[in-house]
Amino acid sequence: MNGVNRGSPRVLHVAAEIYPLVKTGGLADVVAALPPALAEAGADVRLLLPGLPPILDAVQSARPVIDIGACFGALRVRLLLGRMPGTHLPVYVIDAPHLYRRDGGPYQARDGGEWPDNQRRFALLGWVAAHLAAADADVTWAPDVVHAHDWHAALACAYIADHLPTPAASVFTVHNLAFQGLFPHHDWTLLGLPSRFMAPSGLEFHGQLSFMKAGLKFADRVTTVSPSYAREIATHEFGCGLDGVIRGRAGEVAGILNGIDEAVWNPANDAALAARYDAERLDGKQACRQALQASLGLDLDDQSLLLTVVSRLTSQKGLDLVLAALPALVKDGVQLALQGTGEPALEAAFRMAEQMNPGRVRVHIGYDETRAHQLVAGADVIAVPSRFEPCGLTQMYGLRYGSLPLVRRVGGLGDTVRDGATGFVFDAATPDALVACVRRALALRTDPAAWQATMRRAMAQDLSWAGPAHEYLALYQQARQSRAESPRVATG
Ligand code: ADP
Ligand code: GLC
Repeated sequence: MNGVNRGSPRVLHVAAEIYPLVKTGGLADVVAALPPALAEAGADVRLLLPGLPPILDAVQSARPVIDIGACFGALRVRLLLGRMPGTHLPVYVIDAPHLYRRDGGPYQARDGGEWPDNQRRFALLGWVAAHLAAADADVTWAPDVVHAHDWHAALACAYIADHLPTPAASVFTVHNLAFQGLFPHHDWTLLGLPSRFMAPSGLEFHGQLSFMKAGLKFADRVTTVSPSYAREIATHEFGCGLDGVIRGRAGEVAGILNGIDEAVWNPANDAALAARYDAERLDGKQACRQALQASLGLDLDDQSLLLTVVSRLTSQKGLDLVLAALPALVKDGVQLALQGTGEPALEAAFRMAEQMNPGRVRVHIGYDETRAHQLVAGADVIAVPSRFEPCGLTQMYGLRYGSLPLVRRVGGLGDTVRDGATGFVFDAATPDALVACVRRALALRTDPAAWQATMRRAMAQDLSWAGPAHEYLALYQQARQSRAESPRVATG
């Protein structure tokens, strides 16, 4: 391969969130678990994260690497290098107090409004990644591959494309095409990129500035988190206006299915559970189910089908279907336990459903990791009826815990759950289709031996990161070859 060393690559993962420090969704779980799996497979892996307070507090033995000074509206920017708690992987942290040290979420203030300077906050993240790639931020280590996650890190790909002497390749992973990082057109002047980047063939998107397009257009390889979603985003229905751009990259867009962190999600040693279990000793699962019913104040009913949901409450997740189906489901003997947070209208509707169905429906509006584990373990069935789902992790947690996933056939849900074999899959995004699917679960439940066999098949499914990590390593080689032979450039 021309000029590309086939040895273990040095890889820099760039992201805005990481479990357990900062998490708004599955992205954080992936960013915590994929890098150690790549290290296990032989890569030399480091992370680059913004210096949000929980990250600055937790990173161990951080020492300054370089004083960057004033940039992107921040008066003082420093790059630190420390170790991730738990994995001990090296992690670069950008300490930019003016941009990152604030209470609230990574993208939003406590009142739910986007931080008004997100374009600066995430341009800085990409810019530092590119300087690490160019070996001028840390003279002792530089990556062969920069792996940027979602729009927050996407600008790294444009900055690398702007600096042709950089040998590092870039890989961009789309975790969710619906969140694109759109800003007013005139903000492009803050980025420090040549004007040819701000063309429709670059970062311009219908008169706006799109961070997502920086990844889609300028990464040497684009990936998404399931094979089905990789196909779907090339269509008008799922492309969020970017399907033409995706189709333009044709063979350079790959779908690599996520794994799960089997150390964090393992019913055999999960400290959050009332009892531990595995496929050989399933008694503990029944104890988890009873403990969940008791702790939530649900009727202690062994005959009911206990259906749980752990989810962001947004239109993506299709939970309006559950609301519409609920009267029929409750009549059929289903109990629902839901934990989630998100759109106020959905929160209010689920609270109302709880009031109308005492003992049968319990709703916890909020975010709680421990209870999430209890809801996964205690369920007979865990529902993920999404309208679209790039991969989805909760159905995989369900498989691992023998809680049969009931999902819509879309994106990674259809790629991970086998209808009738490891869970239940329905097609139409309608309450009737959901009810019919739940009735198939109720029917299977009348045959305890068949139900247990299904649980055991689900629990035996390989969900580890080892396979995906090797797929990424192969993709990194392709990206490096592309960068060496035909680097991406802005044509204006
Ligand atoms: P997404 O990233 O689209 O939200 P995923 O299924 O990939 O969907 O990941 C969701 C992650 O967030 C899972 O780890 C899930 O357990 C967690 N999660 C979602 N809502 C909550 C909540 N209210 N409390 C605790 N964990 C939650
Ligand atoms: C996004 C997607 C979800 C996926 C997660 C991790 O948040 O919505 O489907 O599992 O990223 O890749």
